[in-house]
Amino acid sequence: MNLHTFLFVVSCCVLTPYALVNEESAESRIILESFEEAKKIVDSAYKFSRDESLARVRKDVINPSDKFCLLRQPARKTREAVRAADYMAQTLRLISEKTHHAHKRSINATNLLTPEELNTIMRLTGCSAQTRPPSCRTTPLINKYRTATSVCNNRRNPLLGASNTPFTRWLPAQYEDNVSQPKGWNPNKLYNGAALPLVRLVSNRILSTADANVTSDREFSYMLSIFGQWINHDLSLAPSSPSIKSFSNGLNCVESCERSEPCFPIQVPKRDSHLSPNSCMPVFRSSPTCGSGNTAYMFGGSANVREQINSLTAFLDAGQVYGSEDGLAKDLRDLSNDGGLLRVNKQYSDNGREHLPFTSVNSNMCATRRQTLNDTSLTEVPCFTAGDDRVNQNIVITSLHILFMREHNRLARALRILNPSWSSETLYQEARKIVGAYHQVMVVRDYLPHIVGPDTFNRRFGVYPGYNESVDPSIANVFGTAAFRFGHLTIQPMVFRLDEHYQNHPQFPSVPLFEAFFSPWRAIFEGGIDPLLRGLIGQPAKLNTQDHMMVDALREKMFAFISPIASDLASLNLQRSRDHGIPGYNAWRQFCGLSTPENETELAVMMNNTKLAHQLVKLYGNPANIDVWLGGVAEPFVPGGRVGPLFACLISMQFQRIREGDRLWWENPGVFTKKQRTSLATTSLARIICDNTGISKVPKDPFRFSKPSSYVNCKNIPAFDLSPWIETGVCGVGNSDSGNEIPQSLSKGPPDHQGDKVKSG
Ligand code: HEM
Ligand SMILES: *[C@@H]1O[C@H](CO)[C@@H](O)[C@H](O)[C@H]1NC(C)=O
Ligand SMILES: *[C@@H]1O[C@H](CO)[C@@H](O)[C@H](O)[C@H]1NC(C)=O
Ligand SMILES: *[C@@H]1O[C@H](CO)[C@@H](O)[C@H](O)[C@H]1NC(C)=O
Ligand SMILES: *[C@@H]1O[C@H](CO)[C@@H](O)[C@H](O)[C@H]1NC(C)=O
Ligand SMILES: *[C@@H]1O[C@H](CO)[C@@H](O)[C@H](O)[C@H]1NC(C)=O
Ligand SMILES: *[C@@H]1O[C@H](CO)[C@@H](O)[C@H](O)[C@H]1NC(C)=O
Repeated sequence: MNLHTFLFVVSCCVLTPYALVNEESAESRIILESFEEAKKIVDSAYKFSRDESLARVRKDVINPSDKFCLLRQPARKTREAVRAADYMAQTLRLISEKTHHAHKRSINATNLLTPEELNTIMRLTGCSAQTRPPSCRTTPLINKYRTATSVCNNRRNPLLGASNTPFTRWLPAQYEDNVSQPKGWNPNKLYNGAALPLVRLVSNRILSTADANVTSDREFSYMLSIFGQWINHDLSLAPSSPSIKSFSNGLNCVESCERSEPCFPIQVPKRDSHLSPNSCMPVFRSSPTCGSGNTAYMFGGSANVREQINSLTAFLDAGQVYGSEDGLAKDLRDLSNDGGLLRVNKQYSDNGREHLPFTSVNSNMCATRRQTLNDTSLTEVPCFTAGDDRVNQNIVITSLHILFMREHNRLARALRILNPSWSSETLYQEARKIVGAYHQVMVVRDYLPHIVGPDTFNRRFGVYPGYNESVDPSIANVFGTAAFRFGHLTIQPMVFRLDEHYQNHPQFPSVPLFEAFFSPWRAIFEGGIDPLLRGLIGQPAKLNTQDHMMVDALREKMFAFISPIASDLASLNLQRSRDHGIPGYNAWRQFCGLSTPENETELAVMMNNTKLAHQLVKLYGNPANIDVWLGGVAEPFVPGGRVGPLFACLISMQFQRIREGDRLWWENPGVFTKKQRTSLATTSLARIICDNTGISKVPKDPFRFSKPSSYVNCKNIPAFDLSPWIETGVCGVGNSDSGNEIPQSLSKGPPDHQGDKVKSG
């Protein structure tokens, strides 16, 4: 029975088929009433949450969960997307409740609404606007430059890879109710005969690493670790609802252990090193996309399975520098003159070099200088603003934001000298295009081979096969939720700060990581970014070993400022994959064509570690149940890489799609001229550091860990040659490309598309 017939039966009014909202029919009234009520509930929950956090910030009693909540707080367009989805979900819940309530018998919920009614709700909630593909004809520039949101990168499907669209899935979701409930929602539910272990228990037993026990990487620098985070902040961010309380019962997620959407707290085990037993660590579920995860509507099958939003573009486009939506992108630009520059800080500079501007958002969660240094006379500063909201998360990622903002401005100034007639817009777009290409070069040429190892790398990244419009570049849910989080195990407990001799800085020595979260003031008042960048290139990465996985700074002290209750990143990663309904370890091994361990013996062989296999099976019961992030990071490395076979497969597959599904990939003919490509191929991170800091000696490859005695003088690193950007013809840059050879016909064919299989080691 659908809503029409149902209402006909209960209210005996005349039925208008496919009634619209403005018509006075009972079903349209129910829809309208439910929507109005939903809007009130959602708006008031948002307001409550905002007031709460502002009040805490004002009282200086921010606790880690507030920080967190604020950290994943959606802004601008993302907020609109999240709000529309919340309106939609609550409207459908209320309609379903009302009809259930009036009608004693249970109604087949999937059959409740007609497509027309659903469209009406989509329109009212703002969901239609979220899913409507834009027209790609309106902006002539989209052929030449990326849009901020990356809409129209793919002309056939303009939303592919755009910001604020769903993560894609490479394997179907696994929810407890098959639609939206996280794994572990019901702690007693059995998987392959075993209940899922508490994530904090897993974290305590398997991941714990005292700072003193950290093993350092002999080959790679700490830059390799942090560059991973830098890249991630270009590619993925799953926002959560701004509401900190349950929509259905008003429960405050921060104060309760109850699971009630969007609260999905982590239960602390009976005995715990840091946290009090029977307490909970608050976790907010990632926001669903509009209409997904609801049973109470028409579409059957998998169309209504809950999906999560990626608020960033899938492309390697330096979105963390420029912003992934129009409003933010514009806000970051210096429109006060026509230099095509990014905005810089007006109050402070770093020995004459530029700093990021401060945020104008008035809830300031970064001001901790007085407290940290116990000196009330000190000047506080607000948070920085940049293309990605996580810019302040730790001081090292902040330093990379500052570095690349300076490089943009350096390029824009140089381009202006070469082409005095260029408009502000052209200068901005051309500099942005170069910075985007830098990243594509550095990620594929310099970063990935060290992570996935040469075998996998060569299989996936042979000769560039050209753009393929059919390749979906979207970030896979398993990539953001699990595979690319391998980087959390490469984080050192310290933030290193070195002087010009690459020795611990006498005035501003290295600080514990947990004292470097949300501390932009350190970049301003403690020697600028040079000591931090030297720390990245002059110190080794943490090596992920099977007995020392995650440092306490992240597992016990993450975002611990004032409150003793901090957060645990390992637990969060595990909880997040359950929140997103990510299938278990063996399903992904199989997906990659790898063997699947069925019992402890087989797992021990695969992990090359009897003790670890025993611990895992003791916790999970069956190897198939192991949360994929943990299974992945526990594997021994592939030769020459820093992840095991499973993550080498998933990470390289994602980057292969990002490369082949990007119409504006730097090697795609027509994007740059042949001479420009030749210039871009010489890009080096070393030179970018030289050009924008006071650092004068650097390793040629800053990802490799080497002794300072082997570093080279900046003078000996070739400068980036901008002469191919001098405009010659009337048609402008990039239009007189005689070097537009067609790689498809020249190459030895696309790299092995069936190469998803990686031999298990
Ligand atoms: C000091 C260093 C780092 C800190 C403090 C940190 C912290 C965090 C936090 C708090 C989250 C959100 C967790 C959740 O609620 O689900 C997160 C997500 C994530 N992190 Fe890190 N992280 C760090 C470094 C890295 C590195 C080095 C990488 C990769 C090489 C990385 C990759 C990711 C990814 C892929 C996500 C998911 C992003 C999304 O799609 O929402 N992180 N990290
Ligand atoms: C609900 O209705 C749909 C469509 O009529 C049908 O396919 C499905 O089997 C029904 N489900 C239940 C639980 O009755
Ligand atoms: C989910 O799907 C599985 C397999 O189709 C089925 O056995 C199970 O009963 C479903 N669970 C719910 C809550 O509908
Ligand atoms: C902070 O400074 C005050 C006054 O200088 C001193 O009395 C107090 O012990 C200090 N607190 C801490 C935690 O160091
Ligand atoms: C383009 O990608 C699709 C989807 O992956 C694939 O089926 C097709 O073979 C590719 N085309 C070329 C020319 O590589
Ligand atoms: C593990 O599974 C393999 C293959 O199914 C089997 O040969 C072996 O006996 C099993 N080992 C144990 C301890 O159950
Ligand atoms: C397996 O572990 C042993 C030590 O437990 C180590 O010596 C050996 O190199 C490891 N083999 C592989 C392939 O990782």
